[in-house]
Amino acid sequence: MVESWVNLAERIGADLHLELSGAGSRRTVLARALREAVRAGRLAPGTRLPPYRSLAADLGLARNTVADAYAELIAEGWLTARQGSGTRVASRAEPPRPARVPKRVPRSAAPEHNLRQGQPDASAFPRAAWLAASRRALTAAPNDAFGPGDPQGRIELRHALADYLARVRGVRSTADRIVICSGFAHALRLLFGGRVLRGPLAVESYGLAFHRAILDAASVRTIPLGLDERGSRTEELAHTKGVRAVLLTPAHQFPTGGPLHPVRRTAVVDWAGVRDGLILEDDYDGEFRYDREPVGALQGLDPDHVVYVGSVSKSLSPALRLGWMVLPGHLVDPVLAVKGEREAWASALDQLTLADFIASGRYDRHIRRMRQRYRQRRNLLVDTLAEHAPHVTATGIAAGLHSVLRLPPGTERSTVNAAAWLGIAVDGLATFRHPQATTPAEDALVVGYATPPDHAYRAALDALHRALPPQP
Ligand SMILES: Cc1ncc(COP(=O)(O)O)c(C=O)c1O
Repeated sequence: MVESWVNLAERIGADLHLELSGAGSRRTVLARALREAVRAGRLAPGTRLPPYRSLAADLGLARNTVADAYAELIAEGWLTARQGSGTRVASRAEPPRPARVPKRVPRSAAPEHNLRQGQPDASAFPRAAWLAASRRALTAAPNDAFGPGDPQGRIELRHALADYLARVRGVRSTADRIVICSGFAHALRLLFGGRVLRGPLAVESYGLAFHRAILDAASVRTIPLGLDERGSRTEELAHTKGVRAVLLTPAHQFPTGGPLHPVRRTAVVDWAGVRDGLILEDDYDGEFRYDREPVGALQGLDPDHVVYVGSVSKSLSPALRLGWMVLPGHLVDPVLAVKGEREAWASALDQLTLADFIASGRYDRHIRRMRQRYRQRRNLLVDTLAEHAPHVTATGIAAGLHSVLRLPPGTERSTVNAAAWLGIAVDGLATFRHPQATTPAEDALVVGYATPPDHAYRAALDALHRALPPQP
């Protein structure tokens, strides 16, 4: 649905804007916008909503769409409907039906506890070490570093990355095969928006909706592979017509959490070799493995058929917007042609700082420190569940910055709502599901345990276990 702002001032006697944007059906988008308005306090408890016929006319939607969105929100407890008094925003004393009714908690627009996956602990950014690296990099920078940048990226950084990725991830590359970009999302835009690669593209049953949106915008049809306990069913590629490329998160399936089984790794590498296909490897958190040695990058098995992409978004900060693509030789020039004559995304000075940060060993030290910290957090999550909700299992815990909590069937939505009521921002697994996925859906929460600062983490877990459904 096109992004639009709808002024409901006349209808409800208050100035309310509904932002109708984002993924999903029209009903989903409208329900989400209304839910957000209630959650953020822009629609106060007791406010009477316009009759669904008039709202439908105002928004240019079918009546049924609005009626269904209202019904959904009534079922969740955000709205109430009484004969004669219309549809109203529920009173705060009546939380949406969580499995266990929590005590009344004040709610605010910004979540009190952010357990959404996707962000490292911002309070742990190594400010002093980064500043020192930046000072050294600036002092040593040749004059050409201050001119228009080379779209391939600074050679100092490409050398540092080639060494680092070989040592830590088993990536086989040289500096001339590396192109610096601003992260995975940028790589997708360059490859598919720039028509270096074309669809259809096989993808995993679960992934980031944001990435699917980038592919949709580039008119790339995506075809989900099945998923089971061994990871994505890459053997299906052999029977998937017209597909020459596949997007995978082999080290740590996002977000379900398992590594791609060795049999499946072999299957996809064989497929790429035989069909001259391409594997797009999203190695978004490969350094954060807790239980055993890191699962090496798939790229190391066949550098001519893998585009390997990484970034500092999980390891340092997504604010830096620094990432890299390790490309098969024949794709380097086409990608550079799409980037254009000058570097327009990644600051050359930040690139030099990162090069120094890696080459001086500070990056390794930071990763070690963060691995230790995130491991402790993961353990605390597991211990909290064992104590307060033993029927809820944390899976995908061997790696990464998030875990998937498996819930009793049918409880995902009410748990997300209950969590929201308790001031927790957290996503259900369904948020990540490909719309055409055929893999059986399971109820689960995707909990990012890296996001809160250390001092707030215990309180976040305390709130989380109160939002979980009771033992059946
Ligand atoms: C699955 C996945 N891929 C890639 C990334 C990194 O994205 P970017 O490099 O565009 O910040 C993330 C988030 O950090 C992610 O969750």
